Amino acid sequence: MPPRISISEAGRHVGETVQIAGWLYNLRRSGKIAFPILRDGSGLMQCVAVKSALPEELFETVKNLTQESSILITGKLRAEQRAPGGYEMDVENLEVAQRVPESDPYPITPKEHGIDFLMDHRHLWLRSQRQHAIIRVRHEVIKAVRDYFDSHGFTLVDTPIFTPAACEGTTTLFEVDYFDDNKAYLTQSGQLYNEATAMAFGKTYCFGPTFRAEKSKTRRHLTEFWMVEPEMTYATLEDVKKVAEELIVFIVGRVLENRGEELKRLERDVSRLEKIQAPFPRMIYDDAVKTLQAKGSEIQWGGDFGGADETLLTEDQERPIMIDGFPAAFKAFYFKRNPEREDVVLGVDILAPEGYGEIIGGGQREDNLDVLLSRIEEHHLPKEAFDWYIDLRKYGSVPHGGFGMGIERCVAWICGLEHIRETIAFPRMLYRLRP
Ligand code: 4AD
Ligand code: MG
Repeated sequence: MPPRISISEAGRHVGETVQIAGWLYNLRRSGKIAFPILRDGSGLMQCVAVKSALPEELFETVKNLTQESSILITGKLRAEQRAPGGYEMDVENLEVAQRVPESDPYPITPKEHGIDFLMDHRHLWLRSQRQHAIIRVRHEVIKAVRDYFDSHGFTLVDTPIFTPAACEGTTTLFEVDYFDDNKAYLTQSGQLYNEATAMAFGKTYCFGPTFRAEKSKTRRHLTEFWMVEPEMTYATLEDVKKVAEELIVFIVGRVLENRGEELKRLERDVSRLEKIQAPFPRMIYDDAVKTLQAKGSEIQWGGDFGGADETLLTEDQERPIMIDGFPAAFKAFYFKRNPEREDVVLGVDILAPEGYGEIIGGGQREDNLDVLLSRIEEHHLPKEAFDWYIDLRKYGSVPHGGFGMGIERCVAWICGLEHIRETIAFPRMLYRLRP
């Protein structure tokens, strides 16, 4: 039996007869020769089936293959510069695992399809080359995130998904029934728990799915997204900014290093990514509002940025920008206020360049017991649900802070995508719960 290899390993087997198991990606044929292109998830392999070299029945089978039929091809590998991937296989044998019938053909054909059709067929759309490129960049981003924190003294401590209280305001909570008339909420952020784990371990991070009942249909919002959240003790807003900046530079560097082929397939202008170096420009909210007004935005001091504002602020930027000094009025209860200016918080948002908007939000936390108690009251939050969180200010409270980075927003920016929906295998949005 010839050895089974994956297409990505072809280079090591030139001149050998091997077997590749995959699916029919495409087929060109004439009377005497057929060129099935096989895909196995690791790459594409153009195969050559010559009528005169094969048993008649086998050649007929090859000629009549249908798109996405599952097949195993055995043959000899050759280097061939003109073939996708650089190698070609001369077919010696072919086994059909399942033939897609003509009566019910694979729905995604090489022609253009509308986005709703593709989203409805997301379970199949994931087989396409563009989706492979995006999902592989996502994988690289996630690996880089883990490598960064794991090599900088952070301990991974995952936080619960069922939570008894809100972290990021009550308007985007998903409520679920939780036994005996109790209500639970899907987590909006692991931050509050991170504060407890950081007090235990010094520096921690959590990384998991996060939920927001976002009732607006935008190109930046999912209702379920993945967020990485580091938290550090004996840390100030400046420390938070420094780690966030380093993390972004590290991630982009890794993707450039390992995923050049994917970026090329996505037609990403990598020269834009090569410019992502520290230091990132810094701006205070007051100046951001003035800049926006000068660009025609209706924003007034005290208002939160909308998606359009974020685009305006970053469309002509080469590097991510760090904005701090946001008004306390629209920020979550846990933010520490700036001691020199009580109306603004010690928080930072990092907006990606080229109009991609906020990818990171974070800051320094309120560490004083009495101040925190009054914030919980001002925000009309149920004090009972926060008793454990309040304990953290009673037993060895220290200045501390952290941030959250949305993986999908980060991937959309790095890949240069118009919309966030392609950055996760099965996106959950206001009007989409299927497939
Ligand atoms: O700015 P946010 O709401 O911050 C927090 O949740 C903090 N508790 C994090 C912390 O300090 N530990 O969200 C952080 C990031 C955003 O910058 C964005 O990248 C992403 O999470 N994000 C979303 N991504 C996709 N869809 C949504 N609906 C998102 N909401 C936030
Ligand atoms: Mg935010």
